[in-house]
Amino acid sequence: MKKEQVVLMENNQKGIKHTLETILDLIKKGDIKITLQKIYKNLYYKIKGIDFSMQSLKELDIQNPHKAHATICGSSSQETMENILDTICKLHPSIRQGLFVDIGSGKGRLLHTAYKYGFERYLGVEFSEQLATISKENFKKLNIFDVEILTMDATTFIPPKDTRVLYLLNPFDDVVLTKFLKQVLKYHHFYQHDIYIIYRAPVFKEVFEKFNTIKHLKTVDFHRDISEIYLLIQQEKIK
Ligand SMILES: C[S@@+](CC[C@H](N)C(=O)[O-])C[C@H]1O[C@@H](n2cnc3c(N)ncnc32)[C@H](O)[C@@H]1O
Repeated sequence: MKKEQVVLMENNQKGIKHTLETILDLIKKGDIKITLQKIYKNLYYKIKGIDFSMQSLKELDIQNPHKAHATICGSSSQETMENILDTICKLHPSIRQGLFVDIGSGKGRLLHTAYKYGFERYLGVEFSEQLATISKENFKKLNIFDVEILTMDATTFIPPKDTRVLYLLNPFDDVVLTKFLKQVLKYHHFYQHDIYIIYRAPVFKEVFEKFNTIKHLKTVDFHRDISEIYLLIQQEKIK
């Protein structure tokens, strides 16, 4: 098993123990404010009935041959995501004037974290009907009505013209990742802007190296939580 997958699994398995250790660590470092914010947020989710809990795909009824290619569903650490979005928004401030897409959006936790960055539009693509429904319910309870969720397979998704960020938290294996990237590149001529691809827990990053129109920009290492950032350069600029 690859290093990135192991880190993701370790974080998932640690569960409550890991959360308590993190909280104690933060208290020791004197970061009481962050600790209290975390506790407050989790209480708020509980009271509002918002479900961002981990979900094993095995238990879900997904009638799609790509289910066998889906990877273990990892958790999205909010701090990692904020670190990545801060990095990208600094590199390219105008990026927020477009669409942010989470490929394999699950219960919508990551989209909720990204929401405060003020992108013009947000979209989630999720092939599990059950998870898509939970995410829609979550956004209603959060009084967020402008996040769109498409229930479909990522390999048939055509990113809209105004797409600026495609985010993937290691949702599937190399077979489906190759199909997905081919599909995105097929509509290359049609995008209005360069597209950033954030590939978090990049277990199958060698797949990206096969496509010469995708440029590797940066590796972000946030407490061993690795993300690769790529740029899909707009067709006009390549000519
Ligand atoms: C690791 S979870 C990510 C959850 C979410 N992105 C987050 O960070 O909160 C991966 C998600 O990808 C979805 N998925 C896997 N293969 C897919 C496919 N071929 N098309 C669409 N969604 C897929 C799974 O159902 C799962 O919800």
